[in-house]
Amino acid sequence: MRRERARDEKTPVLWMVVHGVIASAVGIAFGLVIEWFPEQASTQAGPIDHLYDVLIWTSVPVFVTVSIIVLFSVRNFKMRPGEEQLDGPPIHGNTRLEVIWTAIPAVVLVVLCSYSWVVLNDIEEAQANEMRINVVGQQFAWTFEYPQAGGKPIKSTQLYLPKDRPVRFYVKALDVIHDFWVPAFRMKVDAVPGIETKYRVTPNRLGNYPVVCAELCGLGHSVMRTTTRVVTEPEFDKWIAEQKAPAAATADGEVDPTKQLFAEGTGAATACGSCHTLADAGTQGQAGPDLDETLPDKDAAYIEESITAPDAEIPAGFQDGIMPKNYRDTLSAEELEALVKYLGEVAGK
Ligand code: CUA
Repeated sequence: MRRERARDEKTPVLWMVVHGVIASAVGIAFGLVIEWFPEQASTQAGPIDHLYDVLIWTSVPVFVTVSIIVLFSVRNFKMRPGEEQLDGPPIHGNTRLEVIWTAIPAVVLVVLCSYSWVVLNDIEEAQANEMRINVVGQQFAWTFEYPQAGGKPIKSTQLYLPKDRPVRFYVKALDVIHDFWVPAFRMKVDAVPGIETKYRVTPNRLGNYPVVCAELCGLGHSVMRTTTRVVTEPEFDKWIAEQKAPAAATADGEVDPTKQLFAEGTGAATACGSCHTLADAGTQGQAGPDLDETLPDKDAAYIEESITAPDAEIPAGFQDGIMPKNYRDTLSAEELEALVKYLGEVAGK
C-alpha cells in the first residue's frame, strides 16, 4: 500500500516546491511590509533593522520548508483504518539525507551568526567625543545622571540627549533586575543589581521617544516609563545650564533641602519626583498622581498618610503596590515633617 501511494514521487516533490516558494514569497512580503519597529532615531537603528530583514528572508523559507514537509507527511503517511497493527518498514537511516539536513542549517547558522557579530561589533564601536550618562533603575523609575567635571552629577528623570552626539550609557539597578530600553534607538540592556552594564547610542533624529523598562520587575513595571528628548546641541547646553542651577535653589541661590529631597531622594529613599509631577520642584514623573492636582485641598494628616501608608487611599486610575511603603523608615522624622509641610505649601502653586 505504502509503495502504491508513493508510486509517483515526482508529483508531491514538485507540489511541495511550488507551494513552498509561494508561501515563502507571501511570508517574506508580509514580514517586510509590516512596520515592526517605531521610527529610527539612532545610527544603530538602520543596521539592526537591516539585520532583522535578512533574518526574515532566511527564517521564513526555513519555517515554510519544515511546515510543508510536516503537513505532507501527516497527509500521506498517516495511519489508515486497518493499519493499527502494522509497523513501518525497517529503516536504518539515510546518510545522504542526514548529511544534507545537518550541513545546510549549519552553514545558514554560521553565516547569520557572522553577520550578526559584524553588525554588533559595528554599532558598538567606540566613538570620539562620547558623552557618559549613568542610568539608574529602581522600582519603578529611571534616573539619569550627567557627570559634571569637578562637581556633583546632574540628575534628571527625563533623558535629554543632544542630536548626533555619541552617548555611552552605564546602567545600574538598585533593587531588582530592570531593562533599559529605548525602542526608537533599538538598543536595550538589563539593569542588574551589583554590576554595571553599558551600551552606546548616537541619536540622529530630533523628537521625543519613550524609555521603557523591558524586564518584569514588580507591580509597577508597566508604569516604569519616561521620555527621552533628543534636542539640538544648543538646546541641550541650555538644559544642562538650567539643571546646574538646581530647581531646589531659591531666588537668592540658596538650596532648599526639602525641595532637593523631593526631586532627588536620598541614598535610602526613592525620589518622589521620579514618579510625581510637582511644578515647584520641576519634576515631571508620570507613574503616580500629579501632586499639583491631588494635594491642594488636602491637610497635613492626609499628605503624611499618603507618604507613609500610600495604600490607605489610592486616587482613581492608580493602583496599590507601586509606591514604596517604607518612607517611614527611609526618611527621618524631621525629613518627613519638612516634606509634609513643603507639599502643603507648594502643591498646585
Ligand atoms: Cu523595571 Cu520593569
